[in-house]
Amino acid sequence: MERTNIVHVPKKAIQDVQETARHIKEQYGAGKKYFVESYGCQMNDHDSERLRGMLDIMGYTPSENKFEADFIIFNTCCVREHAEKRVFGNIGALKKIKDERPNLIIGVCGCMMQQKAVSDRLFKRFPFVDLVFGTNELHEFPQMFEKVLSGVRVKKVQESDGEIPEGLPATRINTLSTSLVVMYGCNNFCSYCIVPYVRGRERSRNISDIIDEAMHLADKGYKEITLLGQNVNSFKSDDGHDFADVLHAMNDIEGIRRIRFMTSHPKDLSDKLIDAMAGLEKVCNHIHLPVQSGSDRVLKLMNRKYDSAHYMHLIDELRKNVEGIEITTDIIVGFPTETEEDFEATLDIVRQAEFSAAFTFKYSPRTGTAAARMDEQVPEIVKKERLHRLNSCCTEIITTNNQKHIGTIGEVFVEGVDMRDKPMAFGKLSNFKMVYFPGDKDLIGQFLNVKITKTKHNSLFGELL
Ligand code: 5AD
Ligand code: SF4
Repeated sequence: MERTNIVHVPKKAIQDVQETARHIKEQYGAGKKYFVESYGCQMNDHDSERLRGMLDIMGYTPSENKFEADFIIFNTCCVREHAEKRVFGNIGALKKIKDERPNLIIGVCGCMMQQKAVSDRLFKRFPFVDLVFGTNELHEFPQMFEKVLSGVRVKKVQESDGEIPEGLPATRINTLSTSLVVMYGCNNFCSYCIVPYVRGRERSRNISDIIDEAMHLADKGYKEITLLGQNVNSFKSDDGHDFADVLHAMNDIEGIRRIRFMTSHPKDLSDKLIDAMAGLEKVCNHIHLPVQSGSDRVLKLMNRKYDSAHYMHLIDELRKNVEGIEITTDIIVGFPTETEEDFEATLDIVRQAEFSAAFTFKYSPRTGTAAARMDEQVPEIVKKERLHRLNSCCTEIITTNNQKHIGTIGEVFVEGVDMRDKPMAFGKLSNFKMVYFPGDKDLIGQFLNVKITKTKHNSLFGELL
């Protein structure tokens, strides 16, 4: 399954992106507006930033309102059924606008389109959609778009293990904190998950390319970088570096104050990585470590490659070594064959691990995955009831846990101001907890010490020191 030769998109193809984009600007771009709607995970959000980067070179400007845009593109997700249904519904709703404004161009791309059967169906069902492409064609977007501008409908979805598109432009949404992709794809084939089928094999960027991009971001004023990868800690570059090496190199970059990363897979959480988290001052004391289930039987069926004892061992090591670490997780309920006893084991691990936040999901069968073919799918009503009980359990643990922060002082990186009641500045601690405190927009972008005075739901409240 491992790849030895990582394939980069040829430099010439990236130059063509720029050239075609500039050509579009000269020919068509003046006064045109675009709207990008992104679904799913941070990786998709980042792909949307790449789309925006290319559109900006094309002379298109972003629009806040999709009803004003000349080009609307949906960057889709297929990890769970819910996201898919929303996309189909939202695209259907555009027919009326297209009837009124036939020059509007509508595109659909991303993970959901990478499933050939789905993109074929969508292209047939919605003849007013002009452009469809998958995850492997992102760097061909300007060329495909140019064809559409000349009046041709375009659909391109190629099967591929995936390449690394080094040097694609990006227009980032945030100005203080941003993400940086260090590796693409996934080799794990967890039995419920569609990602390995739509994002290709694991491939890691060269450390030098990562550091160049990070330095560029630091020069632009970014203070916080989240390193992204489907299994970020499985990073392994061609020249023999692992993820801890990436953290060491990132820690030396001037201007960057905080380094985060996600998502980590428990099977590749090495002592070296824990040491790096413990020793490197800029690496935040937070890890997102999906457990998915507390039942060893279910974990095995999920093909997760660890059991609950190993997971708890990792939690103990993290807590022992990384001061003040907070751990967040993902959990699935209602995986095929999950019994009440299995589910109780999940509740047990939630209590033991003391997560500071959990993203919880009802199992959603994904066509083509091993779990979708398993007998004994759990009835929807049981999934719903378990999700409800799991969420109550998580809320209880998180609420109790939050109490330990009261009276502590922590550094908040101020992201914004909530004006709902009185102005409340908000931002995160290094440990990923959100903190609100009285303050105005002048504080945005600053690192400030705040004393925690109370808690509510998931958040902490405090006073500026
Ligand atoms: N059903 C429900 N949840 C899923 N996830 C991934 N695939 C599925 C699925 N088929 C969840 C996992 C993963 C998160 C990103 O989405 O918990 O960690
Ligand atoms: Fe999906 Fe598992 Fe890969 Fe995560 S590690 S992307 S859950 S297959």
